Amino acid sequence: LGGGPLAGRRILVTSGPTHEPIDPVRYIANRSSGAQGTALANALRDLGAEVIFVTGPADAPRPQGVQVVEVESAREMLAAVEAALPPQGPAADAAVFAAAVADWRVASASTSKIKKQAGAPAPALEFAENPDILKTVSRWSEGRPPLVIGFAAETDDVEAHASAKRLRKGCDWIVANDVSPATGIMGGTENAVILITAEGAEPWPRLTKTETAQRLARRIADHFAGPGRE
Ligand code: C5P
Repeated sequence: LGGGPLAGRRILVTSGPTHEPIDPVRYIANRSSGAQGTALANALRDLGAEVIFVTGPADAPRPQGVQVVEVESAREMLAAVEAALPPQGPAADAAVFAAAVADWRVASASTSKIKKQAGAPAPALEFAENPDILKTVSRWSEGRPPLVIGFAAETDDVEAHASAKRLRKGCDWIVANDVSPATGIMGGTENAVILITAEGAEPWPRLTKTETAQRLARRIADHFAGPGRE
């Protein structure tokens, strides 16, 4: 076993966007780069954790020295998370949901390429709601990791909205950030987060995404090392 405060800990991280197919060649996506989730996987690995990294099709180079599971859609991401955390399997100590999962998918993706036909009207897409992976895992009665962490990107009233989200999702911590355009955080290299736990809100200084990840990894290690925890 390697050293580090998270040696022997198994931690799942979701990261990146999801792609929701329209037909075999087209999809709906979002602008998530996967930078924050990747930085977190690297930081957890550096503290000695065994990391399972479930990622959508992200631009960011994959973390090294961790188990990488590549998925496309939200439903594939949920299936990969379920497979990584089987109720009777090796328990995970923590799960961090940093992925920007699409809220909706195309209700019935076409199995063949949708053809443009002269004079025919443009196709109309109908959407269906995707599973909420964070909420699903948070509410598992069996196999729920003891520490479940979600992210919340908000544009106003960050602390209030994120605290409400923590309760609604049933997770333990929420890492909340202000993504209003004036902050330059969305798509940038820096982040300024508020960590919401059952004990309250901890505003963190503006840091690079790498430093934010390192601080969160250390905070997770402190949680497991803290009084009354095992
Ligand atoms: O509700 P909202 O999308 O703002 O919640 C964000 C948090 O929930 C993130 O941690 C994200 O990874 C997670 N999430 C998820 N599955 C979804 C939607 C969001 O795991 N379908």
